[in-house]
This record gives sequence, C-alpha cells and structure tokens, in this order.
Amino acid sequence: MSEKNTYYITTPIYYPSDNLHIGHAYCTVAADAEARFRRLEGYDVMFLTGTDEHGQKIERKAIEAGKTPKQYVDDIVVGIKELWKILNISNDRFIRTTDDYHVAAVQKIFKKLYDKGDIYKHVYEGWYCTPCESFWTEHQLVDGKCPDCGREVELTKEESYFFRLSNYQKKLEELYEKNPHFISPQTRLNEMLANFIRPGLDDLCVSRTSFKWGIPVTFDEGHIVYVWVDALSNYITALGWGSDDDSLYKKYWPANVHLVGKEIVRFHTIIWPAMLMALDEPVPEMVFGHGWLLLAGGKMSKSKGHVVDPVVLCERYGTDAIRYFLLREVPFGSDGVFSNEALIGRINSDLANDLGNLVSRTLTMSQKYFDGKVTPGTAGEFDGDLKALADEVVGKYTELMEQMLFSNAFAEVFRLVSRANKYIDETMPWKLAKEEDQKDRLRQVLYNLCEVLRIVALLCQPAMPETSEKILGYLGADEKGRSWESVKHFGSTAAFATGKGEILFPRIDLEKELEALEKDKEKRAAEAAKAAKKAEKAAAKEEKKSSHAAAEPADEITIADFAKLNLRVAKITACEPVPKADKLLKLTLDLGGETRTIASSIRPWYSAEELVGRHIVIVANLKPAVFRGVESHGMLLACENSADDVKLIFADDCQPGSPVN
Ligand code: MSP
Repeated sequence: MSEKNTYYITTPIYYPSDNLHIGHAYCTVAADAEARFRRLEGYDVMFLTGTDEHGQKIERKAIEAGKTPKQYVDDIVVGIKELWKILNISNDRFIRTTDDYHVAAVQKIFKKLYDKGDIYKHVYEGWYCTPCESFWTEHQLVDGKCPDCGREVELTKEESYFFRLSNYQKKLEELYEKNPHFISPQTRLNEMLANFIRPGLDDLCVSRTSFKWGIPVTFDEGHIVYVWVDALSNYITALGWGSDDDSLYKKYWPANVHLVGKEIVRFHTIIWPAMLMALDEPVPEMVFGHGWLLLAGGKMSKSKGHVVDPVVLCERYGTDAIRYFLLREVPFGSDGVFSNEALIGRINSDLANDLGNLVSRTLTMSQKYFDGKVTPGTAGEFDGDLKALADEVVGKYTELMEQMLFSNAFAEVFRLVSRANKYIDETMPWKLAKEEDQKDRLRQVLYNLCEVLRIVALLCQPAMPETSEKILGYLGADEKGRSWESVKHFGSTAAFATGKGEILFPRIDLEKELEALEKDKEKRAAEAAKAAKKAEKAAAKEEKKSSHAAAEPADEITIADFAKLNLRVAKITACEPVPKADKLLKLTLDLGGETRTIASSIRPWYSAEELVGRHIVIVANLKPAVFRGVESHGMLLACENSADDVKLIFADDCQPGSPVN
C-alpha cells in the first residue's frame, strides 16, 4: 500500500445510445474488481462511472426513436444503471453529463480556458465522424473514412472555438517521459507517440453550432461545447470541481487510474492532460488502455446485431461466473474473442470442477469427520508445500492485481485451488479416517483445506463477491478471518465451524446449452422485431393524430379569440427531412433574432432545398410538441387546395419576426 490512502478509479462514461453489451461490461467489471481489491487492501476508494449523454450521435438516435434527446437518454440510463446492479458493480458515484452540476462546471471550464487565451474562435473546415464524435483532417482519413471505426465521415464547415492543443505538445512529451506509466500498458504509449505525438498536434475544435444537443457556451449563443471536452471533464466535475463544495475533489484528485478502451486512449492521454494543464490542475497518475472483447467475425456492433447481452448471460450462468470469465479469459490490455464455448468451458473447468470440488469435498469431510468443528491437529507430509504455495500465491496475486493484470492474478488463485485438490489426493483423508491414531492428522488436513479455502475466497472477492461471501459463510469465518491482513497468515485461524454448503456452479452440458442459446437468440430477435414494428406504428399514429387535429374546422370566433393567435413572419434558415418519417420536414426558423424548429408534414409538396431562404407565416404560440424526436414549436400556415395539393403561404416581402394581424 502506498502512502496515499485514497484510491480514485474511473471507467469511461458510456454513451446511452443503445443498450450496453458485454464489451462495455468488460471495462466496468475490471474497474469494479480493482476497486474491490483496493478496498480489501484498506484504501479509501472512490469508484466513478456514468453516462456521456450529449452529442450529435445521441441527437440523431433520439430523432430516429421519435423522442427528445433528454427523454431518449433518460430511458436508456435506467437500463444502464440496472445492468450495473445486475453485474454487482460497486461504484460510489454515477455521473450523468446532463446533471446540472456537471453542466455548470463544464461551462466554467470552457470560460476559464477562453479567458486564459487557451481557447480562440476560428472557422473549422474538415471531417467529422459522428459515431466517434471525432474531428479528422483530410490526411488522417483512411480511404476517405474514419480511421478509428471505418465509417463514413461528414464534411463540416463551422465557425468554432479552438483549444490551443499545439501549445501543449512539449509539456505532454515531458509528462510521458517523466512518468512512463502515465500511458499504460507500454504498447499504448508507443501507439500514441507514433500516431499522434510525433506527427505533431494540431489545435482542437472544441465547439459546434450545427446541432443543439450539448452544453451551451455561456458567452456565445448558438455554440455548444464539443462532446469530448464535456465528457472528459466528468472525472473532476463528479468530485465537485468548481462548485461550492469541492472537498471530494481535494480528497481524491488526481485519479489513480482512468480505465478506458484502446480506441479512446488518445482523448485521455492527449486532450485530457492538456486541458488539465491549461486549468493548472494536476494530471491523473495513469490511463490504462485495455483491449477489445471481439466476437468471431470482428468487433461487436449493435447496428449489425453482432453483440452479446450481458443480462442474458447473468440470467443463465450467474453474475459471478460472468465476472470471473471476463477477468480471467483475456489478459487485460490485449484483445480477446468472446465465445459461448469458451465461457461454458471456463465455468465447467475452473468453477464447477476445480473450485466447486474443493469446496464440496472440504465441507463434506469436515461435517462427516468432525461435525464441522475443525481445529489445528498434527502436521505432516505435504503441509509445508501447500502453505508455501499459499504464501507465494498471495504475494504474486497482490503484485498482479496492483498492476491490473487480472487474468494472471486469478490464474494464481486457481493454481492454489488445484494444489489443494491434489493435496486431498495425496493425504487421502478417507484413509486417515479409518485409522484411530490418525484422527489428529486428519484434523490438520481438513484445517489446512479450510485455510486454503478461506484464502481463496478472499482472493476471489474482487471477481466473485457473492461466491466469496458464500464460502466464507460456509467456513464460519469471523471478522479477523475475513480481513486482508489474515490472507498473509496461513494458519492464523483458531477454529472453523463449517456448514453444509450448496453446489456453487452446476456443471453445464455444452452441446445442450449451445442449442438452447441458439433458440433463445432467435426468440429474442423475433421479440425485438415485433417491438420495433409496434413502436413504429404508434409513432405514425401519433403523427397522424396531430396533423388531423389542426385540420378540424372551427366554430365562429370573436376578435378576442383571434387575438389569442400570435401569427408571425419567419425566415426558413435551414431545412432537412426527418429520418424515417416520409412526410416530415424539420425547419429551422428565424423569428427576427429568435430561433426555433418546426416539424411539418409538407415533404410531399416541397423539397428541403427549395424552402431555405423563404419567408412564411407561422402560428408562433402553439404549444410545443415532439414529432419523431423533433421538438416542433409552432405551425406553418398553408392552403389546402385539395387533399393532395398543399401550398405554403409565403411572405417573402415581410420582415422575419413581424406580427401578422
Ligand atoms: N463516451 C465515450 C467515453 C467518454 S469517457 C470520458 C465512449 N463511450 S462508449 O460507450 O462508446 O464506450 C465506452 C467504453 O466501452 C470504451 O472504453 C470502449 O472501449 C468500451 N468498449 C466498447 N466496446 C467494447 C468491446 N467490444 N470490448 C471492450 N471494450 C469495449 O467511448
């Protein structure tokens, strides 16, 4: 344990753009295991996770789903929190970038950097990858596509704010040199140097004007903060940076480690430390870039239906089995392939066979020969070997866990489990039980087995907290026997009072299970298709209802009734089709300084291009409504010559914003 007794660990904050898959769970489970391990060691741990809710990607997804961005993220965040509960994630805080305190702190960060001269205004002209929310220059593209995800990029030209990243090139190089573990593992450092640092850093575009779903720049209306500046700031805003109460920030910052996937290492090791330097704040101690969990056939992709749902796996095999598999199967840092065969194989061999057998044999014999009351007896052959291995494993495990080498750490634990099973075969307790003068020897054998199990249970706690708790319960371990200190002292338990125990991990029939999984997948796909169809129908119905409501003829009205209408001239400044809605156009309107959007079913009669620049008349005080995710505030005046001939009322000679009486 180092001098500092706090330990701050973070996961990336996830885009609530879809339900999360097993690849996302991978990082959070790893962070959870490390957090639990550090708590065991005695650290005061702060473990943060959350959601990254702004950006063009989310805005578009919301439109497709027929919701406002906030409604959309609110719904998905519920599922993400539920997933972390199912996976037994022990985060201390959960940040949402739509939380008020975060929004205020990001605005403060942006203003501070602007006031210092680290941010300036300029025109951005280049390429943007919306799925990655990344800017690229022409020469960075690979075959004209995003170099990270290989998808299409969009040509963007906007007046934007820029962060003087180029000014921090030298300081960043010094940071990597002074702290070689800042970017871990070493391969990630090499990647960053070769791909980004050595070619030279350009200033970074840090605001957008072409969409709305983001944190507004306080001093320039229409600009929103670039989503990565917003997102990265979460690591300090979650601790109260810049707020009235920054005690958590003072206590926990700088972070010990940001755990992130390899494709976002560059944001965390270049942009983030440069931002912190510009803010005169300390940088984190380490950014660890882990590898990807792949499927046979490549990266997981929700849009291609190429994903594994962690909730389904937890339901079938139990949370601990899934957590253990994720940590054990792939060396943390490298890519690895997920397969049902590998998962079932691992559960059967390590958990059902090795660990399960050790637990059931030890408990059964303790009951049978000593009624569960197991105390030290007479030492004998093989004891020294077992104890030496237990001590060695604890030492190695600690070192490996401190370096986040989870797979190797748990390989060590299971080396001890195997050794203990072998110890049973060597000492043959059933034979000792038959010899009257071997009672004390038998007691020692079972005592040693209980000690091994106690240590194994403690070492397994970061990966399998429930199983660990069960085993410690079966052994009747007291507070001292559950302490981290006791793990280093084989033989320190005075007595065990063991119980009966249950089968921890039932063996799985591989062939039958693979068949069942396939059927389950088909069933779920059919259910999802049905639900999507139903949602589409409901949205179409809603849309129809709203447009009909406006078309109903009215009774006679008075002047006072008419005066309730706020009719105004509006200039169409932008216009685009609403995805997945045949009739809808989204119009951006200028009402003489005020900007608003209206979604209108006029696409059968007008193209988006022909409308831009035209002046029309709108009912400006119509209550806002949401159509296919577009907030529509107002109604266009149009003339219905017939059901299939509709003409807008144009007012090109009139000033935008003028009242129409
Ligand atoms: N919102 C950003 C992170 C901002 S952090 C300030 C983001 N979100 S994400 O939801 O797309 O991804 C979150 C994390 O999940 C990333 O670290 C990413 O590498 C990880 N993974 C997504 N798919 C994965 C696998 N298939 N395997 C392992 N990790 C994966 O990026």
